[in-house]
Amino acid sequence: QIQLQHELDKLLSTVPDLRQPSVKKELDGFAQLFHRFLQEEGPSVDWERIDRLPENAVRDYSTLQLPSADQIHLMLEKLVVVKLNGGLGTSMGCHGPKSVIPVRSDLTFLDLTVQQIEHLNKTYKTNVPLVLMNSFNTDEDTQKIIRKYKGLQIEMYTFNQSCFPRINRESLLPVAKNCNIDADMEAWYPPGHGDFYESFKNSGLLRKFIQAGREYCFISNIDNLGATVDLNILNLLLNPSEENSTEFVMEVTDKTRADVKGGTLIQYENKLRLLEIAQVPKEHVDEFKSIKTFKFFNTNNLWAKLDAIERVLNENSLNMEIIVNNKCLANGLNVIQLETAVGAAMKSFEGGLGISVPRSRFLPVKKTSDLLLVMSNLYSLNKGSLVMSPQRMFPTTPLVKLGDNHFSKVKEFLSRFANIPDLIELDHLTVSGDVTFGRGVSLKGTVIIIANHGDRIDIPSGALLENKIVSGNMRI
Ligand code: UTP
Repeated sequence: QIQLQHELDKLLSTVPDLRQPSVKKELDGFAQLFHRFLQEEGPSVDWERIDRLPENAVRDYSTLQLPSADQIHLMLEKLVVVKLNGGLGTSMGCHGPKSVIPVRSDLTFLDLTVQQIEHLNKTYKTNVPLVLMNSFNTDEDTQKIIRKYKGLQIEMYTFNQSCFPRINRESLLPVAKNCNIDADMEAWYPPGHGDFYESFKNSGLLRKFIQAGREYCFISNIDNLGATVDLNILNLLLNPSEENSTEFVMEVTDKTRADVKGGTLIQYENKLRLLEIAQVPKEHVDEFKSIKTFKFFNTNNLWAKLDAIERVLNENSLNMEIIVNNKCLANGLNVIQLETAVGAAMKSFEGGLGISVPRSRFLPVKKTSDLLLVMSNLYSLNKGSLVMSPQRMFPTTPLVKLGDNHFSKVKEFLSRFANIPDLIELDHLTVSGDVTFGRGVSLKGTVIIIANHGDRIDIPSGALLENKIVSGNMRI
């Protein structure tokens, strides 16, 4: 620890005087996190002490009351919308921030978010601010793009999350030689979205919004297209039927077999908290994945009371489990980066509540298979929000698997579809190998298309594939 502090001081000395106080704050934050990492031993939860969720711990969304029309304007005056925008689009083969990938009708995640908030502001003659938490990876590109929103009825703010040094796994010392991040981007990392609280405070925005009379923030992943401002939830927070105020809400939804790895909500030491798979002892992983024992998973749509955030930060009582992320740099060096997750803060607040929301509030785009769904006729776009087509018989989305080799990057994925097929009646789709789709293709029921190595399958324009397996160089 002493040697680490010495190295951090050396890094700080490479920073121009003017920027030293803010960099020092960040490096101190890192030193604290690293100190905790060295101190903490063993699992952060004792499995036997996990209690059953109390009856009133998770409220069913359908029991919430719609606010009256004249309340809405007042309620929205107390809200701040925060989008987590520190992540890159690398997992879908894109450079730059994930939020600038076009997802629907040439509109990006950012465009859709801005449209949603602008619509909200216009409809209720209000001025809900939109705050983006960027990282050093995404800030420059994001700033260039948000210029085009000037003139719209939307007040936008950005702040940067911390930039922490990656640590050599052997020596446990920083890889960076100086604080010139651009010179060696690989030596630094954004420490997960749990960094939101500290960085939001350090940016001065937390205080500013509290002073302006705002009370709650709604935080969500920018890649979750279902994370719209929900007036029923806001109403529950601002006009509670009981005295006690809710400081933190986690929107959870029913777990299906496809999301068994997602974090879940548990009762522990008389409080609700997030349990992530990384915290689960090996012998209990199957139990953790069970959709019966742990019914819900975290959508990462969170609502937090602004003055409570300030309080836990001032009291130094914000405690989030450390996620140790092992990485290998391009030069073969093994490093670790310590991260935290924004939902893990729940246990540090009073009056935590889960709300079990419909699946439609969880529409993340992590892979091109998700992109296929949101680009298709399963949805229509209404003022920046995606609405499922009423023609779909069931409100569930089809299960889509696209081969990694030919479909994982957005550009190649797009080049394989003359246009996006009709998916209204699709249940399952598996595509593997060199496959292309012509115009106006319709996919229904369960469709499996497998082109073996060296073969190519072109689905002709206008084809209807219903409960069909296509493989080899079969004619359709
Ligand atoms: P990820 O896509 O990286 O997270 O980021 P994940 O693996 O799906 O895990 P969950 O969904 O958080 O459980 C989710 C959101 O958080 C932002 C990304 O931009 C994205 O909107 N993010 C991630 C940050 O803002 N900062 C970070 O350091 C990491």
